[in-house]
Amino acid sequence: MAESALLNIMVGAARKAARALTRDFGEVENLQVSRKGPADFVSNADRRAEAIIHDELSRARPTYGFLMEEGGEEQGTDGQHRWLIDPLDGTTNFLHSIPLFATAIALERAGEIVASVIYSPILDELFTAEKGTGAWLNNKRLRVAGRRNLADSVIVTGIKVTGTEDDARTLRQLNQISPATAGIRRTGSASTDFAWLAAGRFDGYWEGRLAPWDVAPGLMLMKEAGGFVTDYSGGPGSVYSGEVVAGNEAIHGQLLELVRSTR
Ligand code: IPD
Ligand code: CA
Ligand code: CA
Repeated sequence: MAESALLNIMVGAARKAARALTRDFGEVENLQVSRKGPADFVSNADRRAEAIIHDELSRARPTYGFLMEEGGEEQGTDGQHRWLIDPLDGTTNFLHSIPLFATAIALERAGEIVASVIYSPILDELFTAEKGTGAWLNNKRLRVAGRRNLADSVIVTGIKVTGTEDDARTLRQLNQISPATAGIRRTGSASTDFAWLAAGRFDGYWEGRLAPWDVAPGLMLMKEAGGFVTDYSGGPGSVYSGEVVAGNEAIHGQLLELVRSTR
């Protein structure tokens, strides 16, 4: 498909950052055997990737603001546009040499997400979406999966267990939802979860305590792939609530019911 000027800029920035990350990923494999492990190296790689994206985007659109995982918020001068950036989504995978991570960028215009890019460099999969023009994987148009029953569905989620009440709830949800499905998956990258859901690989997704840069790129992709996304109460999918329940209309409804019942 022909990319718009806007998507071109976003794709260029994501690919450039991902090239640096891919080089660093090679180095991480060597560092696994060291006693200290690659943790510091990875946080530097993460910051370097974000700096590349920041440079590219500010050169192309000097008046836009930023909300970045590493660098925080930067006000733009136009007051309408803001980039949301996660340079490395799937840090734990990256740190352990698991080749599943993504660079994710979304553009917010007057409070609404209007374009997004999620790029998985190792798989060389580029997911893009822009308001009104569909969701794409490389040159293929995306559509969410068509399964109607949760029992036939593969559902992805995020599992954090740090001992809080919220974690106890995640475990209650897993307990309740897992037996009702054909299988639960955990990729370790929220952008990848959304992208694979938009591509029909997963049938549903739920997760809480997400950051805006984890949700924004995937939300756009899901909207353009004909999916449904809400928060845990069934309210409209929001970048800032931190909660998502997503799927096609039928699977979203069945999943939401179970997520709600474990509040
Ligand atoms: C994390 C991943 C993970 C999700 C976490 C995120 P990071 O992002 O997206 O799948 O469960 O909530 O923080 O730290 O790898 O950028
Ligand atoms: Ca990150
Ligand atoms: Ca993230």
